[in-house]
Amino acid sequence: MRSLTLFPGSAPSTNLGFGTTCLMGLPGSKERLALLETAFDAGIRHFDTAPYYGYGEAERILGDFSVGKRDQLTITTKYGLQPPAMVKSRWVNLLARRILRLFPGLRTRLSQKAQTLSKKGSFTAAEGRRSLEQSLVALKTDHVDLFLLHEPTLADASSEEMCQFLEAEVKRGRIRAYGCGGEFAAIQSIATANLPTAQWLQFEDNVLGRRIEIIRPTGARCITFRTFLEALPQVVAWLEAASGRYAEWERELQVDIHAEGVLAGLMQAASHLRNPDGMVLFSTRRADRIQAAVSVASGRQFSPEQVRKFDALARMVSVPTRTAK
Ligand SMILES: NC(=O)c1ccc[n+]([C@@H]2O[C@H](COP(=O)([O-])OP(=O)(O)OC[C@H]3O[C@@H](n4cnc5c(N)ncnc54)[C@H](OP(=O)(O)O)[C@@H]3O)[C@@H](O)[C@H]2O)c1
Repeated sequence: MRSLTLFPGSAPSTNLGFGTTCLMGLPGSKERLALLETAFDAGIRHFDTAPYYGYGEAERILGDFSVGKRDQLTITTKYGLQPPAMVKSRWVNLLARRILRLFPGLRTRLSQKAQTLSKKGSFTAAEGRRSLEQSLVALKTDHVDLFLLHEPTLADASSEEMCQFLEAEVKRGRIRAYGCGGEFAAIQSIATANLPTAQWLQFEDNVLGRRIEIIRPTGARCITFRTFLEALPQVVAWLEAASGRYAEWERELQVDIHAEGVLAGLMQAASHLRNPDGMVLFSTRRADRIQAAVSVASGRQFSPEQVRKFDALARMVSVPTRTAK
C-alpha cells in the first residue's frame, strides 16, 4: 500500500483508510476489535471516526484498539454532528442493540429516526473544545491527527472564532491538522472560498460522481468516501439493464466482472487513480473485504492500464439523478 504523510512529522499513514461506521453492524466489542486488528495487520494505518458513529461507541472501540499502537497509525475524528442526547447514554445504546439483535428488521427505521433527532453543532469554539476533549477521552489519546468539522456550512467553516480555536489546538498539539468533511455542495463552496479550514477536505467521490475533479484543482488535500455505497448497485443495475454490456467490459478489461469482488475492486482502484496523492476511505464488516481492499490499494489486483480503461468505461454509465437529501 502507498504510504502517506498527512503533515510534516505525522505518524505513517496509508492511501487507504478504514472508516468505523460499519463496525456498529457487528454484534459486540470482541468482533469490532478483531475487525480493526484485521485492518491493521493488513497494513491499513488510517482510521476515520466521529462522535456521531455508533453514537460514541465507534470512538470508544477505536480508542481501545489503538492503545499500544497509537504512534503507528493516524486518526481522524470530527466535530459538529452530535447524536441525540438520549442515545448518548451507554445503557440506552446497549438496550437498543439488544432489541435490534432480536428484531433486526427495526434497524433501518430506528436509524432513520435517530438521524432526524441528531443535532447539528453550532460550531463555536466552546463546543468544539468540549467535543474534542470528549473525543480524546473516548479515543484514549492525547491528540488526533485530523480534526474535521462534520457537515459544516460555508458560514460554519468561515467562522473566525472557529479558525482561531483550531489553530490554538494545533499549537497546543491536541490536533495536528484540520479541515472539513461532509455533503459535497458545502465542501465545494468551502474549497472555492479557499478558507483555512479547506486544507483537508473529505467528501464523496466515485465513478458515478467524480467530484474530486472539482476539488483537486483548488489545492486542498482530498480524502474521499462513498466508493461503494449506492454507486456499486447502480453500476451493477446499469450493466444488467442491457445485454452485451458485461461482455463488452470483460473483453475490454480482460477480467471476469462477475467474479466476487472484481467490480468493487475496479471501482476502488479508480478512486485511487482519481486521488493519487490523497486517501480513499471505505468501510465493511467483513475481514475478507478488508484484505481485498488492501490488495487493490497496493496495486496488486489490477494493472494501471486496466484501471484507466475501467475509469473511462464507467463514464458511459448513466443513472437517474439523485434527489437531494
Ligand atoms: N462526512 C464525512 O466525513 C463522512 C461521511 C460518510 C462516510 N465517511 C467515512 O467513510 C467511511 C466509508 O463510508 P462510505 O459511506 O464511503 O461507505 P462505502 O465504503 O462506500 O460503502 C460501505 C458499504 O459497502 C459495502 N462494501 C464494502 N466493501 C465492499 C466490497 N468489496 N464489495 C461490495 N460491498 C462492499 C459494505 O458492506 P459489508 O459490511 O457487507 O461489506 C458497506 O455496506 C465511513 O465509515 C466513514 O468513516 C465520512
